[in-house]
Amino acid sequence: MDIIQCTAIAPSNLACIKYWGKNLKVKKELNLPINSSVSITLDYNDELKTTTTIVLSKNFKKDRLFLNGIEEDDGCYNNKRVKIVLNEMRKLCKDENLKKLNLHIISENSFPTAAGLASSAAGYACMVTALSGVYNIDFNNNIKELSMVARQGSGSATRSLLGGFVKWNKGIKDDGTDSYAIQIAKYEHWKEMEAIILVVNEHKKEISSTNGMTDSVNTSLLLNYRAENIVEKRLNEICEAYKNKDFNTFALLTMKDSNQFHATCLDTYPPIFYLNDVSKSIIQLIHKLNNKNIKYCYTFDAGPNAVIFTLKENTQNLLNELLKIYCPSLSDCRDNPKFNYVRGRTKLTRDDVRNQLNSLSTPYQGKISYIYHTGVGKGSRILSKEEEKIEGLADKNGYPKKYNN
Ligand code: DP6
Repeated sequence: MDIIQCTAIAPSNLACIKYWGKNLKVKKELNLPINSSVSITLDYNDELKTTTTIVLSKNFKKDRLFLNGIEEDDGCYNNKRVKIVLNEMRKLCKDENLKKLNLHIISENSFPTAAGLASSAAGYACMVTALSGVYNIDFNNNIKELSMVARQGSGSATRSLLGGFVKWNKGIKDDGTDSYAIQIAKYEHWKEMEAIILVVNEHKKEISSTNGMTDSVNTSLLLNYRAENIVEKRLNEICEAYKNKDFNTFALLTMKDSNQFHATCLDTYPPIFYLNDVSKSIIQLIHKLNNKNIKYCYTFDAGPNAVIFTLKENTQNLLNELLKIYCPSLSDCRDNPKFNYVRGRTKLTRDDVRNQLNSLSTPYQGKISYIYHTGVGKGSRILSKEEEKIEGLADKNGYPKKYNN
């Protein structure tokens, strides 16, 4: 069969100064934020990535979308954001014949969808990157345009196209043409920066970021004060700190901004609670460990999962402290001892963890489902044809390899 295809991979990113709030005075579809934000792009080699294969064929009757092996209802047309991204990418494509073809989007996350681990960021960044491949839109020369399309899929996705430390400038134009991401520092700049992600709860979140931030903009005075008076200064300070590898300042700002974001959630009416008791216990632990000097900093997105940034020299110590308190429960170990409890740069099964710890009993045992050990990484990219043979998601007919049609 005559098909054209391209596979891309994209990393997740974690915001240190958060994007929270959309500009409701402009066209909704543009997805423009009320404040700029910065994030660290995570290393896609550590089991936290999205892979997307796009297939074009004149034999396809309609556009179809397959997420994690399951087809979305009604092709892509139920999903407004996917539709917008497709339209925008077709506008950027110069080849009239290519853009007329229907396509299959086949996408898989290596981590739980909508668990507050920025899956939409990796997802839309990956879709845009793979689409740039099939539509012959040069990725590096069009990064600004592609970043603006990714933004319309999901705000945070605009930052996942780039690696290292990334800023999404909110822009001032009502048409959104100055609202895109730029790289502040490459991933090589501060390779010692690592992240430990504690998956507290991998169920879908109750209030999506999109709905949560709309409620916050409409009801929280604190959010609007923050956007107007606090964020710009913090952004300048944290970008300087990152460039100077000043962990102390970086960490302080990251923790304060996470706390302020969750304060705006509480200031929203009715209030939104993303943190739970386990999240709060992690915050307390980090402050206890930072007693003398700041070695660790936490940040939480729209969910209870914690992300802790630290420098490589301190990661092992942090993991030891965390495992003492949040080790897997005895019954979980009995049920599935070989379950990968720590993933990424450190790999430990439940059994490994319990064996290291002897007999322990803490109230938070079993409260962390699993842990990722990762660090700063590169932005999204198109796979080579060789890589695609192994990692591509489509079979020879352009359907998901893992799908029974
Ligand atoms: C708390 O990018 O998921 O993670 O633009 O509506 O798709 P939409 O929202 P999304 O929101 C992310 C919010 C955050 C902070 C951040 O990543 O900056």
